[in-house]
Amino acid sequence: MHKLIVAALAIMVFFVSAVPVFAVSAGKTVEFSGKGAGKVVFDGKAHAKAKCNECHPALFKMKKGATTMTMKDMEAGKGCGACHNGAKAFGVKDTSSCGKCHKK
Ligand code: HEC
Ligand code: HEC
Ligand code: HEC
Repeated sequence: MHKLIVAALAIMVFFVSAVPVFAVSAGKTVEFSGKGAGKVVFDGKAHAKAKCNECHPALFKMKKGATTMTMKDMEAGKGCGACHNGAKAFGVKDTSSCGKCHKK
């Protein structure tokens, strides 16, 4: 009897946690190679206050690795640069902020 309850709970937990496709919800990350400048980790937890539609689909496709971004694009306000412009969040042009995104 006990084992059955444990098994049922385990199955429930599995399904509950498997349902959302919130790839970058709190606790999940997306990694960009950084093309030599040091890899960039986008942390869902740090962005959990933003609504899905602030980023999708205008700024990013809903598929890991599907969005290509250059610093030039971001400096022009695309991708991460839509918020990381020195006003909403630390800016992509600010030389003291490079290391907040790029980690060696
Ligand atoms: C601050 C911006 C931002 C917010 C807010 C955001 N996402 Fe994303 N999401 C991203 C980025 C960046 C990627 C990666 C895109 C890429 O690599 O091309 C991504 C990827 C995804 C993917 C694809 C993951 C995969 O493994 O292929 C899904 C699904 C997704 N997001 C769903 C959501 C949902 C649902 C929400 C709201 C709960 C949300 N996102 C909120 C930025 C965001
Ligand atoms: C908000 C996060 C963020 C900040 C801040 C940032 N970068 Fe980036 N950077 C990225 C992302 C994301 C990419 C794309 C990486 C990829 O596609 O693998 C990138 C790409 C690059 C590249 C590859 C070539 C190119 O032009 O796209 C270089 C070089 C680079 N960054 C240098 C810098 C320097 C120097 C700074 C500071 C002045 C900086 N980055 C600040 C996120 C950031
Ligand atoms: C919808 C707006 C928005 C977008 C789009 C966005 N960010 Fe952010 N990000 C924020 C805000 C707001 C903060 C927290 C405020 C601050 O630190 O200036 C933040 C914080 C961060 C931090 C610091 C996290 C920490 O733990 O302190 C990193 C790194 C970062 N973002 C990377 C990225 C990268 C990489 C992208 C693009 C893939 C991106 N962000 C796109 C709004 C955004």
